[in-house]
Amino acid sequence: MLESKSRGVQDYVGSLQFDRRLYRHDIAGSIAHARMLGRQGIISEDDAVRIAKGLESVRREIESGDFVFDPSDEDIHMAVEARLFKLIGQAAGKLHTGRSRNDQIALDLRMYLRDEITDIRRLLRDLRSATVELAERYPAVMMAGYTHLQQAQPVLFAHHMLAYFEMFTRDDARLADCARRVNVLPLGSGALAGVPYPIDREYVARELGFDELSANSMDAVSDRDFVAEFNFCGAILMMHISRLAEELVFWSSTEFGFIRIGDGFTTGSSIMPQKRNPDLAELARAKSGRTYGNLMTILTVLKALPLSYNRDLQEDKEPLFDTADTVKATLGVCAEMLRTLEVDATRMRDVVRDYLLATDIADYLVHKGLPFRTAHGISAAVSHHASDTGKSLSELSMDDYRRFSPHFDDDILQLSMERSIAARDVPGGTALNRVAAATKAAQELLISEGQG
Ligand code: ARG
Repeated sequence: MLESKSRGVQDYVGSLQFDRRLYRHDIAGSIAHARMLGRQGIISEDDAVRIAKGLESVRREIESGDFVFDPSDEDIHMAVEARLFKLIGQAAGKLHTGRSRNDQIALDLRMYLRDEITDIRRLLRDLRSATVELAERYPAVMMAGYTHLQQAQPVLFAHHMLAYFEMFTRDDARLADCARRVNVLPLGSGALAGVPYPIDREYVARELGFDELSANSMDAVSDRDFVAEFNFCGAILMMHISRLAEELVFWSSTEFGFIRIGDGFTTGSSIMPQKRNPDLAELARAKSGRTYGNLMTILTVLKALPLSYNRDLQEDKEPLFDTADTVKATLGVCAEMLRTLEVDATRMRDVVRDYLLATDIADYLVHKGLPFRTAHGISAAVSHHASDTGKSLSELSMDDYRRFSPHFDDDILQLSMERSIAARDVPGGTALNRVAAATKAAQELLISEGQG
């Protein structure tokens, strides 16, 4: 606590403006701590009950909006304790026995983050489900697959969407893994060295749903690697969303015209009424930026911090809250938006230039026994000849082909997107049956997660 009376200093040092959102976790942690103190005979059972009841009242006051936050209280811990004093008197002074704000804030953050990760994973599951729904709705729509944003080889639109399902599924696994490291009880570490009372940390862990106790008090009060880790998980997830958002932006442009985004997710322009701006996708794309910034912020706050607690750590909260809020909001609207997509299969096919079958020409020759490099050279020559003479591959005659290799037979004239896609019948490939199986596997995974 700072003795200075200056309002400027108070505001600078305080965190109440942003850490008040931790009140629920702060109070739950305090109630478990008070009960433990009572059970262990460190404070009287009566005081423990009085404290727990008082804390419940404080929580109700905050939830009903009756609670008056006093800016002279430095943080949520002080604000709750000050109110508890007013409600129950001197017994309130016993709550902080065997505890410090250092292990208290580490506890609050871990409890908060645990809940956020649960919420985020639920929202992410819905977004993943929306990608699979698109694959189901358009199981056989063909499009150009791109590399370098150049038409490369034919793929199924469903295959393209399921690529995002894979990315988002890895994001989910990362969050689940992060949650394991979050769910470790720091309370009982005291200010930094542990506490000189016969506390029962296992009891508190059970009460609050923690899987493990922190093994080192100095580490427990001073590391925030779990915050950095979560911010990284959030940043990667937002990066994936930004890729999808970018595709939605240009797919919905007049030039591409592949998709139509639902009305609720685009905006018109007051002076250019023909426009359907994909604002939501653009914002989702942009908001990845702030999560990268938040990750950089927390890493920089932690860099070179000597053990153990330092007030620097108070700066962990805003980047954490902002990433959690941004990710949740983005996931929610993106899933909704995806469900409004209308795919224009004809347009997707119309824009395809059949030069993207050039690889299939090379593969054709390989099947006739040529080494791939030779076959590739011939296929390149055929493609160049076609484009030089202003023809598409389908307009080439048998004579045109034969000029480049005697290995071409009539069936070369049957090259098509359908055949190209069907030929890629390997695990992870874009053949119809493979994509159908991948869609089914994705659905089953989502269902099993829903039951788990
Ligand atoms: N508001 C502080 C924070 O967020 C709580 C811990 C304060 N501890 C201290 N020794 N001043 O880190």
